Amino acid sequence: MSSPFAIDEPDLESWGEADDPVVVLVGPRERLSADWRASVRALVEAGRRVVAPDLDGLEPARAAAALRRLVTEMSSRPSILCAAESRDRVVQALSGAGPSLAAAVIVAGGEAVEIEAFGAPVLVVAPDQGEAFDTAVVGFLEKAAPREALVYHSGSDARTLRDALGCFATGVTVVTTRDGEGLPVGLTANSFSAVSLDPPLILFCLAKSSSNLDRFRTAEHFAINVLHIGQQPTSGVFARSTEDRFQDVAWEAWDTGAPILSGALASFECATHEVVEAGDHLVFIGRVLRARFEPRRDPLLYFRGKYRRLHFA
Ligand SMILES: Cc1cc2nc3c(=O)[nH]c(=O)nc-3n(C[C@H](O)[C@H](O)[C@H](O)COP(=O)(O)O)c2cc1C
Repeated sequence: MSSPFAIDEPDLESWGEADDPVVVLVGPRERLSADWRASVRALVEAGRRVVAPDLDGLEPARAAAALRRLVTEMSSRPSILCAAESRDRVVQALSGAGPSLAAAVIVAGGEAVEIEAFGAPVLVVAPDQGEAFDTAVVGFLEKAAPREALVYHSGSDARTLRDALGCFATGVTVVTTRDGEGLPVGLTANSFSAVSLDPPLILFCLAKSSSNLDRFRTAEHFAINVLHIGQQPTSGVFARSTEDRFQDVAWEAWDTGAPILSGALASFECATHEVVEAGDHLVFIGRVLRARFEPRRDPLLYFRGKYRRLHFA
C-alpha cells in the first residue's frame, strides 16, 4: 500500500537534447499530444528540451506535489508552459517556494494573477493560434529564461545557489553508521571531502532535516563508501525513504561496526573526530581508521543534479 505521504512519480514524455534548458508542459494528456505537437517541435528547434509529465490520473493535490517535486529535482530551473485548465496545479506546485522554482511561466489562455505573485516572469498567451502562439512562446523564453550564465547573490534564492554548486562534479558515497540498537543506518551523500593527511581526516555534511541526524550525532563511528559506476541503484536506494535500505545490499563490518558496502570503490572507516554546526547542515569530521579501495573500477559521478560516468576522449 502506498503511503499517504509518498509523492507520485508521473510518467514523462520528453523531446530535445538532454542538456538544453527545460520547458515543462502541464496540461491534459490528450491536449498535449494533439494541439501542442507543433509547439513542441518549435520549442525543440529553438534549443529547448520539452518534458511532459502525465498528471491526468492524479487528484489535484497529488498532481501539484508531483509537479513540484519534478521541478525541484531538475538539474536546472525549468520554465513551465501550462494549459489554462492546469493553471491551478501550477499555482499550487509553486506556492510557498518563492520565485525560485520556475524560470518563467507561460499560461495558454486564462489569467496570470496568482502566478505573478511567485516572482517568475509570466506570459499569458491566447492558445490555438498556431505559429503566432509558438513565436510568442519562443520569443518570451529567449528573454525570460535565456541560455546565459546565471547569477546568485547572497540572500537571493537557494535554487540558483544549488544550481551553481551543482557545477562542481563529485563522486557519490553512502555514509553509514549503527543506531543505538546496532541496526545499520545509511544515506547517499556527495558532500564527502578529504580534509587532512596527517592526521588522516575526512568530512561529510549531513542535512539537519535528516531522519538519521541523531543517530550519526550519537554514534562514535561512521563509514564512507565511495560508489562505483555499477552502484547507481544503490545510490538511489540510499537517497529514498525506504524502510530498510540495507535489505538488498551486501555489507560487512570491520572494527567499529559501521557498515562497509561490499564491492564499494573505496571505504573509509572513521572515528567521529568533530561535529561542526554549519547552517542547515552538520559537518561530520572523521579520523580514518581503515580504508580499502578497488584500483580498477570507474567511479559513479554526480554533476548538475544527474548521475554521470567518466568519459575519456
Ligand atoms: C547524489 C546525492 C547526494 C546527496 N548528498 C547528500 C549530502 O551530502 N548530505 C545530505 O544530508 N543529504 C544528501 N543527499 C540526500 C539524502 O541522500 C536523502 O535526503 C536521504 O533520503 C536522507 O535520508 P535520511 O533522512 O533517512 O537520512 C544526497 C542525495 C543524492 C541523490
